[in-house]
Amino acid sequence: MREVVERPKKYITLTYGCQMNERDSETIAGLVERSGYQEASSLEDADLVIFNTCSVRHSAENKVYGKLGQLKRLKHEKPGLLVAFGGCMAQLEEVRNKLQNIGVVDVVFGTHSLHELPYLLEKAAAGLEKPVVDVWSEPGKVVEHLPARRRGGISAFVNIMFGCNNFCAYCIVPYTRGRERSRQPQDILVEVQQLVEQGIKEVTLLGQNVNSYGRGLEQKVDFADLLRMVNEVPGLSRIRFTTSHPRDMSDKLIHTIAASARVCEHIHAPLQAGSNRILRAMNRGYTREDYLELVAKMRATIPGVAITSDLIVGFPGETDEDFQDTLDMVEKVRFDAAFTFMFSPRSGTKAAEMKGQLPLEVKKERLLKLNEVQYGIALEANRRLEGQRVEVLVEGQSKTNPEKMTGRTRTNRIVVFNGDEQLVGKLVEVRILAAKTFTMFGEI
Ligand code: SAM
Ligand code: SF4
Ligand code: F3S
Repeated sequence: MREVVERPKKYITLTYGCQMNERDSETIAGLVERSGYQEASSLEDADLVIFNTCSVRHSAENKVYGKLGQLKRLKHEKPGLLVAFGGCMAQLEEVRNKLQNIGVVDVVFGTHSLHELPYLLEKAAAGLEKPVVDVWSEPGKVVEHLPARRRGGISAFVNIMFGCNNFCAYCIVPYTRGRERSRQPQDILVEVQQLVEQGIKEVTLLGQNVNSYGRGLEQKVDFADLLRMVNEVPGLSRIRFTTSHPRDMSDKLIHTIAASARVCEHIHAPLQAGSNRILRAMNRGYTREDYLELVAKMRATIPGVAITSDLIVGFPGETDEDFQDTLDMVEKVRFDAAFTFMFSPRSGTKAAEMKGQLPLEVKKERLLKLNEVQYGIALEANRRLEGQRVEVLVEGQSKTNPEKMTGRTRTNRIVVFNGDEQLVGKLVEVRILAAKTFTMFGEI
C-alpha cells in the first residue's frame, strides 16, 4: 500500500496597524508554527488566514472589511479554509457583531488572549462552534516565554509594556489594549540578549507610552534605568524606542538618552495639536508652551536629536484659528518628520460624542495644508545634511534601486548608497550627496 503523505498545513498573517501588531504577529506566527503550520507564500496557498487588525481610524477598519470580502470568495472555493480574526478590532463588541453577519470568520481572539490561539484553532477545526470566540475584556498577567517567528533582518521590536492609561479623548487604544502593564526588566534583557545571539543589531523598545515604563512593578525601575541596562547588552549596535508621551519626558530620561552611546538620537514625541484649547479637549496633559520648553531642553541636552511627531487635524471644534496654531507649532518646532492624520471618530471614545464634528472636506483641506508645510520643513532638515558624513546601519538592498543598499541614520533617516550585501548589519559612514523629503542619497 502506498503511504499517503499529507502536505503540511500553511498559514498566512495579515497585519494592520502599529508596531505592536507587527510584534504580536511574530508571536502569532511562532504559536501556529509550533502547532505544525508552515508559512504560506500567498493567500491562495494558505489553509489558515490570520487577521491581526487595527481600529485606530475608520480607514484601518475599512481595509480589513475589504479583505474579508475577498476571503468570502476564497472560502467558497476552498471550504476547509480557516479564518482567524484577532487584534484591536476583535476587542470591540460592535465589530464582533458585524463578524457574525459576515460569516467568514472561524475564530475571534482578542489582544489579551493571543497565547490561546492554537487551542482555539483546534476547537474551530473540530467544528463544534462557529465562530469560536475568546476575547477578554481585561488583560491577565503578562505572559512570557511565548514563541516568536521574527520577521528577519537586523532589527527587531521588543515590547517593554502593554496597554495605555492615558485616555486621550480621540483614541481607542486604551479600550482595545487595556490598562498599562510593564514587563520585568530581566525578561526584557534576556529577550534582547537572545536577539543579539540571533544576529540582531538594533532593537526598538515598544510601548504606547514608554516614558511611563515601570509603573506598577515591584522593582523600582523607570524607563531611563531600563535604557541604561539595555545599553549595556554587548553586541547591540543601536537602541530605538517609541512612543514618548511629551508629558512624561523626565530630565533624567533626556540625560540618559544623551549619555547612552547606543541609544539613537531620535525621539518620537507626538504633539497631536498646536492649540491649547484643543490639547485640553484631547486630554493630552500639556500646553504648547510646555512642549516648546521640552523641545528646547531635548535639543540643548542631546546634540543633533531628531524630534518627530504625530499630528491630528479636524478634532471636534477645531477652528481655523486652532488649526493655525498647529501650523504655527510645526513652524516653530521644525519636526524632522511627522505622521499626519484626519481625526476619525471612534465609537466609545469621548471625542466621538463631542459637539463640533467637522466635515470631511475641511479635514482634507487642513491635512493638505499641514503636509505641505511639514514636508517643506522635513526637506529643509534633510538638505542640511548634504555634504555631511553620517553613521548608517546597513539594512539590505534598496527596494526602489536594487543595485544600491539602504539603511538608516541614527536620527532614523533612510539613506540609499553604494555597497553590497556583505555590509548588511554593519555600521558604515556615508557622505550625503542629495536629500529628498523621505530619502537621502549618498556614498560610502
Ligand atoms: N501611543 C502613541 C501616542 O501616544 O502617540 C500612539 C498612539 S496611536 C497608535 C498613533 C497615532 O494615531 C496617535 O498618535 C494619533 O496621532 C493617531 N490617532 C489616534 N486616534 C486617532 C483618531 N481617532 N483619529 C485620527 N488619528 C488618531
Ligand atoms: Fe492613545 Fe493617548 Fe494612549 Fe497614545 S497615549 S495610545 S494616543 S490614549
Ligand atoms: Fe491600531 Fe491597536 Fe496599534 S488600534 S495602532 S493596532 S494598538
